[in-house]
Amino acid sequence: MKRVLTAVLILISLQSFAQQKQIVKMNSFIDALMKKMTFEEKLGQLNLPGAGDITTGQASSSDIGKKIRDGQVGGLFNIKSVAKIRAVQKVAVEESRLKIPLLFGMDVIHGYETVFPIPLALSCSWNLPAIEQSARIAAQEASADGINWTFSPMVDIARDARWGRIAEGSGEDPFLGSAIAAAMVKGYQGDDLSKNNTIMACVKHFALYGAAEAGRDYNTTDMSRLRMYNEYLPPYKAAVEAGAGSVMSSFNEIDGIPASGNKWLMTDLLRRQWGFKGFVVTDYTAINEMEQHGMGNIGIVSALALNAGIDMDMVGEGFLTTLKNSVDSGRVKLKDIDAACRRILEAKYKLGLFDDPYRYCDLNRAATEIYTDANRAVARKLATESMVLLKNEGQMLPLKKAGTIAVIGPLADAKENMPGTWSVAANYSNPISILTGIKKASTGKAAILYAKGSNLVADAALEDRATMFSKSLGRDQRTATELLNEALEKANQADQIVAVLGESAEMSGESSSRTNLEIPDVQKDLLRALLKTGKPVVLVLCTGRPLVIKEESEKLAAILNVWFAGTEAGFAVADVLFGDANPSGKLTTTWPQNVGQVPMYYSHKNTGRTLGEGKWFEKFRSNYLDVSNEPVYPFGYGLSYTNFTYSDFKISSTHLKKGQSLDAAITITNSGKYDGKEIVQLYIRDIVGSITRPVKELKGFQKIDLKAGASTTIHFKIGEELLKFYNSDLKWLAEPGEFNIMVGPNSSNVQTLSFTLE
Ligand code: BGC
Repeated sequence: MKRVLTAVLILISLQSFAQQKQIVKMNSFIDALMKKMTFEEKLGQLNLPGAGDITTGQASSSDIGKKIRDGQVGGLFNIKSVAKIRAVQKVAVEESRLKIPLLFGMDVIHGYETVFPIPLALSCSWNLPAIEQSARIAAQEASADGINWTFSPMVDIARDARWGRIAEGSGEDPFLGSAIAAAMVKGYQGDDLSKNNTIMACVKHFALYGAAEAGRDYNTTDMSRLRMYNEYLPPYKAAVEAGAGSVMSSFNEIDGIPASGNKWLMTDLLRRQWGFKGFVVTDYTAINEMEQHGMGNIGIVSALALNAGIDMDMVGEGFLTTLKNSVDSGRVKLKDIDAACRRILEAKYKLGLFDDPYRYCDLNRAATEIYTDANRAVARKLATESMVLLKNEGQMLPLKKAGTIAVIGPLADAKENMPGTWSVAANYSNPISILTGIKKASTGKAAILYAKGSNLVADAALEDRATMFSKSLGRDQRTATELLNEALEKANQADQIVAVLGESAEMSGESSSRTNLEIPDVQKDLLRALLKTGKPVVLVLCTGRPLVIKEESEKLAAILNVWFAGTEAGFAVADVLFGDANPSGKLTTTWPQNVGQVPMYYSHKNTGRTLGEGKWFEKFRSNYLDVSNEPVYPFGYGLSYTNFTYSDFKISSTHLKKGQSLDAAITITNSGKYDGKEIVQLYIRDIVGSITRPVKELKGFQKIDLKAGASTTIHFKIGEELLKFYNSDLKWLAEPGEFNIMVGPNSSNVQTLSFTLE
């Protein structure tokens, strides 16, 4: 035993010795390079201009080509194709004085050409290894096409469904969000950034971007340090701890100072408290935008950003054009510009670009590594796992592949919309529409009829705004009645109706906030008319955010939420509808009864005026006159075609001593007829604290696979670490006292036991 331990210790010290040696080597390389650099060349490294898309063969002659030759560019982003990127890199390493290679970034958010479900959907799989694998595949494909840096993961906690960018993150919960953030960083970066199939992650948007007031994008945020530390910051921290190479500043202000000029955030917290060693890039023109925030002219805000700890300026060129003056006037110190330049050069070094600037520019890889059958198969499976079965009364689902099925709705035959928001690299001729998926799965077995049934929304101008970026739904010029009549004619011939309704892909995402969270008007009318036929109707819901579907949840027997499921969407939807895959996704956001309830989240605090047991309204209590405080669907909720029963909940002790742990065990039985997966959730409540504590917080989960009829006992280890929080001095600690421990299939349906921390 002792010998093994000694061997392990030797191995660890050898490893850290090797790492130290690497760092010394990197530092001396960069020291030597920086000695050769002029001030202007150093500034050039801090510049990330917007190149737009460069035409092949034009790299050298374009405006950007001149800038690169002059050493004024550190990197470029959102250029697609390895041939173009290679040509641009060639200008940098053959025509610029110091031949410093460029970074090539892209918004590879949920896959590259093989598009995975939108991040909010991915989070509903609660499947960390699969999410990590999706990032791994994205990195493999992107790096085969010249990309070495991705602007992902997006880890902003979001509790207000009006905010369109809720689609890009992992929902409302910091515990789950942190686990996913770390998994994605590992997926992108692998164990060695210098490999040609790993890319650098960029955690965004630092920080608190998801807390925009009233859900209006880019809006002000304002919150207490307690809420920041306990609820909003953990996923960024987790991504940093997982080794993310870069961080992106957010657009919003924090404590009255925009993130890109906020020294407390970028230096005190990120670098000093969290020990972040990578570089920070701003979001798109975020430095310039500080002028509109009212922080001063471009010279002042650029200096503010640099002094706050920003290293790279995305698009705005404030650094490039003003920092010389700021150094001359003493507003900025040369050593801070050197530090920023060094961090960017370090990133290039770690990516292996100084060894081989064409490391990610192998012209042969793309043909065999992008959008492969193997990658698509992974995306299809993960898409089925991210779908959430919201209702299934009378076991209407799965459907039989028989008879006549009418597939109706504006999202049914909408392949360009299936990848969802932020699918920059997608090839829009690839995605499988839901109609195609259903047809392929039932060929020779069922007759499939189709009608569009309605436009996306009555207001044509709104439809225009909600279908940008080549994601048109082909607005139909017929009247609403004509469209409806055609749909009813098809519906009346069918045995089963599948209504494919909801949002278009660009109804969520950046700058796509909504104040009305319902399924759009004409689609609701269509659904009501379909229900009136008396035929069985399944609602297949496309959305990038929690929607208000109170009416639909009351009237329909079956609702399957499929989000935007990526290039394989149609196949995956058919897999689930026909029962070739059993749904297992669970919501990572709370679905409200109406928009007036938001922001809404399960881990809220109690007021001093909580409602009495079983009551939904009492005068002078914390509630609304018109609706209860309950959501339509709670966090963690999702059904399966089978049933799971929870029994024998036990804890190993009712007392926990500091430094020790206790075991919570529960038996899960698949008591239904299908094999299936269940996501078992563990919540904890700290009953009395030095600050008020949430009514419950997710502190563990396990996704298990159980054959029909089988049982298993699962265990959660509960130690002091899980009980810790930031107190009012922002100290991370656990306080002695009583805790509730809860286990169940969702946040509203739990069994409770108690223990005391001594
Ligand atoms: C978005 C970022 C994105 C960047 C670069 C910005 O508008 O906020 O999330 O990474 O553009 O495309």
